[in-house]
Amino acid sequence: MAKYRIAWLPGDGVGRDVMEAAGIVLDAIRLDAERIPADVGWEFWCNEGTPLPERTKEVLRQTDCALFGAITSKPRDEAVHELAPELQDKGYSYFSPIVQIRQEFNLHTNLRPCKAFPGNPLNYRDDIDLVVFRENTEDLYAGVEWFPLPDGVRKAIDTHPKMKRFASVPNEEIAVSLRLNTVKGCESIARQAFEYARKHNRKRVTIVEKPNVIRETSGLMVRSARKAAADYADIRFDEANIDAMCMWLVKNPQDYDVLIASNMFGDIISDLAGQLVGGLGFACSGNLGDEYALFEPTHGSAPKYAGLYKVNPMAMLLSVKLMLDWLGETGSAGLLEQAIAAVIAEGRIRTYDMGGSNSTLDVAEEVAHKITGG
Ligand code: IPM
Ligand code: MG
Repeated sequence: MAKYRIAWLPGDGVGRDVMEAAGIVLDAIRLDAERIPADVGWEFWCNEGTPLPERTKEVLRQTDCALFGAITSKPRDEAVHELAPELQDKGYSYFSPIVQIRQEFNLHTNLRPCKAFPGNPLNYRDDIDLVVFRENTEDLYAGVEWFPLPDGVRKAIDTHPKMKRFASVPNEEIAVSLRLNTVKGCESIARQAFEYARKHNRKRVTIVEKPNVIRETSGLMVRSARKAAADYADIRFDEANIDAMCMWLVKNPQDYDVLIASNMFGDIISDLAGQLVGGLGFACSGNLGDEYALFEPTHGSAPKYAGLYKVNPMAMLLSVKLMLDWLGETGSAGLLEQAIAAVIAEGRIRTYDMGGSNSTLDVAEEVAHKITGG
């Protein structure tokens, strides 16, 4: 039996292209792992009324971790139109499978390293090396939302003094998306960021929030970060507001190191940070729980490029590196990162986004060559 079992979820569009690239590199590493393919994505929504069939969740339960390509998602009403005719009007409602996996498997932590590899023509600067710790299951992503507002909810929130301003607005004209954060969620993400900083010899941790306006939820995040900071006196700790942080990251990205953010702010700031080091083709991520984890490039399925092997697989290959780290295969992880860095530095084999004309698989094979010493 293989040492590891990896759920293999290519998903839609270019998710499949970059997944093939991941396979080439894992072959070169000779990771002793069985890959167990599972269904996720648009096709299954259209034909089965769910983008995440129960059988796929079963595969996740029976594996050590998952590698995920990309998926197509569309707004609720548009999604319903694309359902197979026999599934229309059956009350199916589209949801993001990745958000559902994060919540159902309690993958509470989203790790998003954004590192500028020297020689990448897309780098904003070459000295950027940020790691975003994004809380991954709560906050505005909790999914507790209403439109129109049900009577019971209205009654409960009408007691709040700030609701006076909305007294004359009918329930039918109010949408509410609840920002729900728990002490456990906030303290956990903060502590993990500091622990990571200590382990990887990082010098600075910054909490990115908005407590001056969003006093309760952002306030809780900031207090949790301060509490963790007190136990890591050797690491510099700062607090920044999300809006200002967007400016500073554009102005002085090299000054930042580890960032802590709630789910929604972390989503935003990690796209900004990703763009500083090459954009979608380089933005990798790990969705980490206590016992399970899922790794994915953060780009979408880019339907117009599907099957053309045009897109940059680096985000996927860097996600594989995170997976190897998580599995404890740190030697292989280091080797893979070196190989990626070497291919970028040499600049011979590049996808179109980097100004080259090589394919997704050319890049993967070049990385594989470096690993096997070819
Ligand atoms: C990400 C993506 C997802 C998110 C989408 C696809 C639901 O933007 O992983 O950053 O919002 O978390
Ligand atoms: Mg995002």
